[in-house]
Amino acid sequence: MKRQIRVWMKQTSLLLLLGAVLSFCRAQSQMDGEETGVDEEHVELFTTPTTKMAAATSDFGYNLFRVLASREASSNIFLAPISVSAVLTQLSLGTSESAERQLFRALRYHTLQDPALHTTLKDLLASVRTPGKGLSTAQRIYLARRLRLKQDFFTLVEQRYGVRPKALLGGSKDVKEINDWVSQETGGTVQRFLSKPLPRNAGVNAVSAAHFKGKWVIRLSQTGELGTFQVDGGTPVRIPIMQQDNYPVKMGADSDLGCMITQIQMQDDISMFIFLPDEVTTNMTLLEDSLTAEFVQDLSMTLLPAHVSLTMPVLKFSYSTNLLPLLGNAGFADWLQNTGLEKISAQPAVLSSVSHKVVMETAPEGNEYASATSPSGHLSYSVNRPFLFLIRDEVSGALLVIGRVTNPKDLAV
Ligand SMILES: *[C@@H]1O[C@H](CO)[C@@H](O)[C@H](O)[C@H]1NC(C)=O
Repeated sequence: MKRQIRVWMKQTSLLLLLGAVLSFCRAQSQMDGEETGVDEEHVELFTTPTTKMAAATSDFGYNLFRVLASREASSNIFLAPISVSAVLTQLSLGTSESAERQLFRALRYHTLQDPALHTTLKDLLASVRTPGKGLSTAQRIYLARRLRLKQDFFTLVEQRYGVRPKALLGGSKDVKEINDWVSQETGGTVQRFLSKPLPRNAGVNAVSAAHFKGKWVIRLSQTGELGTFQVDGGTPVRIPIMQQDNYPVKMGADSDLGCMITQIQMQDDISMFIFLPDEVTTNMTLLEDSLTAEFVQDLSMTLLPAHVSLTMPVLKFSYSTNLLPLLGNAGFADWLQNTGLEKISAQPAVLSSVSHKVVMETAPEGNEYASATSPSGHLSYSVNRPFLFLIRDEVSGALLVIGRVTNPKDLAV
């Protein structure tokens, strides 16, 4: 609460400095609300089993993102954490009790005290994958046939998550098998999930993939002109941009983190949060370190409505990585020492890959147009240098996609 108010005051002065004409009455009532606890029900989003689960998958996601961010110090990186949570939770159905405890701790489930954890996760996944939200995901466990697999595990995962783990034959057909399934499951939006064969002697493989194409509530326009994007320590690049004057956003500044934060509304209660550092830098360690489900929720309560002249890159990318080497630093070290996958196979089953792919597009389309008459001055918000963004489901608070864009020119499709 303390931080919230502090951030609020700072951003107010900054917005005033920038010349935003904010409704003072609105700001005043918001502040009164904080003092009297009227906003309490918003601040306390994470109270139901589903929203607590959303917070857990988000916090796991932020942890994993930090590890990825420090490994890939200055490049573009992306994750769809809820999909990774989902596949690792499927895997937990094959572990011993003590291994499950360690795995659940790393997945941030240990505080949930939810006896129906799998049902809650399944419900959360279903709610964030309703078609209007623009997210599709695919999660499945692939197992080497030679492991003498236990059919009970297949049945249990299928009962809980509606997807049956699959035995692999070994060899090049496996890649096609996996890629075809991911493509089918995501409506053709995630192609070429694996670009090379699984490691030799692959045992247990966790596959997670996500595609996100959200629609803005209010459309942006793409003029076809290129905009300039500053690159840390390099020559600025020219990239396709989307632009709209008089665009309603929520925004604020956090001078501790040295960034401006903007929340842009998408359809079906999805939001994009953009964290734009004041400086041209790829070092966002301070910001990355502060990200938690609670922090983002508090932040969303403190951002203030404003109309801006908005300019942002047209994002279109796909990003693949094997997350297994990152897990040790993301809270899974204990579990990795002994994964206890004893309900999967009579033989010792080794986790050999945790492959992840995320594909995302931002297009200018939206159902509504920005109003022509500007209520404010000439505040502009230009995403023209390295930034970090989140895609969040506002109903549950679940983090769907997180990314750091350091050079849009390097994005692969
Ligand atoms: C990134 O910034 C933090 C402070 O915000 C600093 O401690 C750290 O050394 C920086 N990292 C690099 C690689 O420059």
